[in-house]
Amino acid sequence: MTVSFAGRLRIPGRRQAETAVVPPQEAQGRQSASGGGRVIGVLGAKGGSGSSTLALNLAVALARQGAPAALVDANLQQPQIAGMLQRRPQFGLLDVISRRPNIDLHLLEACAERIGPHCLLLTPPGDLETCLGSNLGELAEALESMRSLVPTWVLDLPRHLDKHLLRLIDRCESIVLVFEPTLGGVEAARRQVDLLRALEYDEGRVILAANRCCRKTRAVEKELPRCFAGSKIVALANDFDLLQSCLLSGEPATIVKPGAAYCKAVSALANIMVASGR
Ligand SMILES: Nc1ncnc2c1ncn2[C@@H]1O[C@H](COP(=O)(O)OP(=O)(O)O)[C@@H](O)[C@H]1O
Ligand SMILES: [Mg+2]
Repeated sequence: MTVSFAGRLRIPGRRQAETAVVPPQEAQGRQSASGGGRVIGVLGAKGGSGSSTLALNLAVALARQGAPAALVDANLQQPQIAGMLQRRPQFGLLDVISRRPNIDLHLLEACAERIGPHCLLLTPPGDLETCLGSNLGELAEALESMRSLVPTWVLDLPRHLDKHLLRLIDRCESIVLVFEPTLGGVEAARRQVDLLRALEYDEGRVILAANRCCRKTRAVEKELPRCFAGSKIVALANDFDLLQSCLLSGEPATIVKPGAAYCKAVSALANIMVASGR
């Protein structure tokens, strides 16, 4: 990507790797124009929109389509995904970041959790004190060293906008913006879209994901093409029961019940990403 948003805004001991998640030949395949793996950022329009749930399930859906994926929980201060999977990893994202620029696949796999056979999870530690010593700018730097190691990267992005988050967004080939099809949700999504536009982020790279679509939200859903003229919009079904039971069992919905409407929509989104090379 040629545009640097950060510049534009002017805002001032490892364990042994288990079996390889990313076969070496795969690591070289499906790369973005920049020569690394493609990076997809998932951003919530506001808190509770469902962005972490989507990031997790999208990464799994992409991996199920044969493109090994790495999911990064970029919420350094309030990581969520390990908790959703009921994991408390001993190693993780900060161990990888601290070794930059010397990051290889062996280190990555040793520090990552596995979700299914082809998906890796890098998560910050649960304690705030350690996380305060790091920032997303360091993750952006580390990503440059490691993105070629895995064909697809999915970043669960925090919402707090600062120069570090902008550096990370800079590295995303596409952004999935998750919002609820309610008046408040649409308003929040519009603010984020306007912000990305102001930063000259290519609008063709933004996909809007209307989450928790149901009968009650149908009237707003009908208006979405008009509210976001020219934008790609995907609809994700409301499925409270499935997603709550997945939180209880610690498994991603796309693994537990791939045939559910929510999971089918996530797989369709993964297909769009694969087809567009983003
Ligand atoms: N499509 C959906 N249908 C029903 N519940 C959902 C859906 N998507 C997410 N949720 C639930 O909403 C809550 C917030 O989701 P989460 O992914 O943590 O949001 P965020 O990361 O944007 O704050 C979680 O309990 C999650 O299970
Ligand atoms: Mg979240």
